[in-house]
Amino acid sequence: MAILDKHKVIEKNATLLLVFSLLVVSIGGLVEIVPLFYLQNTIEKVEGMRPYSPLELTGRDIYIREGCYVCHSQMIRPMRDEVERYGNYSLAAESMYDHPFQWGSKRTGPDLARIGGKYSDEWHVDHLVDPQSVVPESIMPKYAFLLDREVTPEYIEDRLRTDRAVGVPYTDEMIENARADFLAQADPDSDSEGLLARYPKAQVRNFDGRPGISEMDALIAYLQMLGTLVDFSTFVPDASR
Ligand code: HEC
Repeated sequence: MAILDKHKVIEKNATLLLVFSLLVVSIGGLVEIVPLFYLQNTIEKVEGMRPYSPLELTGRDIYIREGCYVCHSQMIRPMRDEVERYGNYSLAAESMYDHPFQWGSKRTGPDLARIGGKYSDEWHVDHLVDPQSVVPESIMPKYAFLLDREVTPEYIEDRLRTDRAVGVPYTDEMIENARADFLAQADPDSDSEGLLARYPKAQVRNFDGRPGISEMDALIAYLQMLGTLVDFSTFVPDASR
């Protein structure tokens, strides 16, 4: 009882209660925060990661605009069933250039973190135009209108600059060439040497198979690169941390 009596003193004195509460909260805070200062890096450095190319970034903006994240997550958890279905679990570094990130936990449809290369461009066009035509039981909505919506690089420099403002390492060269890179990636006959030097592994082709650059081109360029940047056949997790 004696200890409860002592506690009463604190409970009856608001100032004392405040002082002790602050003390307890600060100790808790320090225990959580201080170790982070001693970690060299909270995000493991991973080879292959690069900022999105202008066309991929445009496709990503369409993905967000259309609310694809409402049904699709982009985060493979390190559980066996997920790894067997979707591939290597997602690394923090794989979303380090994502603003906003697309992790999520709502999976009405499958996780898309490694959808790149799983299907052909034609499959994606057919699926987005009419999902039930390829997966009869699908409840995914139709996005056929994306084929008819032309997309231009009108604001692409500003778009890259905006991401640079929040920490994505776009260089001056990348921003200067943003329009050219945007156009080059959707044109199989273009000179894509500069694009590939700036954005290794960028895939260059006419994604929707139709003339002109549509929102469908941009969205498929984005889907086809998801999860393809890090080579998991040579990736070794950093066990030192
Ligand atoms: C109402 C929920 C819903 C929305 C919104 C939605 N999807 Fe889906 N998606 C699904 C379901 C369910 C499936 C599984 C059946 C199928 O393949 O159609 C799926 C499958 C997919 C697949 C094939 C995945 C695989 O591994 O087989 C892709 C790619 C895809 N969706 C992309 C998109 C994109 C891009 C958008 C936005 C333009 C989108 N989805 C919006 C529900 C949705």
